[in-house]
Amino acid sequence: MTKVLVTGGAGYIGSITTRTLLDSGYECVVLDTLERGWKEAVDPRARMVVGSVGSREAVADALDGCDAVIHMAGYIEVAESQRIPDVYFRVNAVEPAVLLAEMLRRGVRALVFSSTAAVYGEPDRVPIAEDDPTEPVNAYGASKLAFERRIVEAEQEGLRAVRFRYFNVAGAMPDASLGEAHDPETHIIPRLLSALRDDAEHLEIFGREFPTRDGTCVRDYLHVCDLADAHIRGVEHLLDGGAGAVFNLGNGVGFSNLEVVEACRRVTGREAEVIFGPPRPGDPAVLVASSDRARDVLGWQPARTSIDEIVEDAWRWHLARPTGYR
Ligand SMILES: NC(=O)c1ccc[n+]([C@@H]2O[C@H](COP(=O)([O-])OP(=O)(O)OC[C@H]3O[C@@H](n4cnc5c(N)ncnc54)[C@H](O)[C@@H]3O)[C@@H](O)[C@H]2O)c1
Repeated sequence: MTKVLVTGGAGYIGSITTRTLLDSGYECVVLDTLERGWKEAVDPRARMVVGSVGSREAVADALDGCDAVIHMAGYIEVAESQRIPDVYFRVNAVEPAVLLAEMLRRGVRALVFSSTAAVYGEPDRVPIAEDDPTEPVNAYGASKLAFERRIVEAEQEGLRAVRFRYFNVAGAMPDASLGEAHDPETHIIPRLLSALRDDAEHLEIFGREFPTRDGTCVRDYLHVCDLADAHIRGVEHLLDGGAGAVFNLGNGVGFSNLEVVEACRRVTGREAEVIFGPPRPGDPAVLVASSDRARDVLGWQPARTSIDEIVEDAWRWHLARPTGYR
């Protein structure tokens, strides 16, 4: 049976990817410090190793018998990364170099890396393609790009890697068993849903004078289950002998902040007035990725493209687990 190590497998995307791998017949090991993830989110069929991707001992234990690695561990908050850029660089770029070295030492050569579309910074054009310039505008994006560069170096030594770049991930397992439980939560859909669930009077949106169809920012949203599917296709591609590459993953359709609010109101049946705050510095008007390469090479395409479907699954999770995994 093919055995896959998922680093960060106790986090939001990692826990759902682990569950999906197990349901697809893979054997799984999860390596996570649990500092930002939840033991309860790890499927009991997976072997759990509590430890860091920066610990040789923990990595060696977790890698034992593995055929491939999906690396999702790391820190993900843009604003926090601006406050403590050195920590982000250490956690996202330096510590996982231990993982790369240990993979090469053991001959585990297939790596799927969860990068981010934040590596592109403010794009010159949309939809963004994989060969467009990478000029991150925050420390989070810079730290992920720094690790991509380490991967490229390791490819000279025989590693083969799929690097996925994506924007906003949302939704939950359709049965509401696993979902997003960040603390603090900075992502727009869970924030809006929490506010509606708690009968807040206002929903805040940043900026209303962007050159978009309704003046609010347009972003790409991907259902977490479509993302899990892409990661499994990335593993299969590498284990079938496919070449390493960068792939953007997106819905192909952008939704404006107001459209997301409307979807949240429709799905929840609850109302709250929208108030507009000032635009956040460095927030581009439109961020949408072209996923043509992932479609052509991996045969991947998102199955859940309507914003209502994404919000419906997130809402079901919110109602089932109002305090997340606590
Ligand atoms: N959530 C999104 O919208 C989004 C968008 C683009 C890219 N990504 C990328 O996807 C990945 C997963 O994101 P997420 O939303 O699931 O984040 P998450 O915070 O829910 O999960 C990350 C997990 O990594 C663990 N971790 C942190 N440092 C570690 C270390 N040194 N060693 C081992 N484990 C460690 C945390 O405990 C946590 O469980 C991240 O790499 C992120 O950069 C996420």
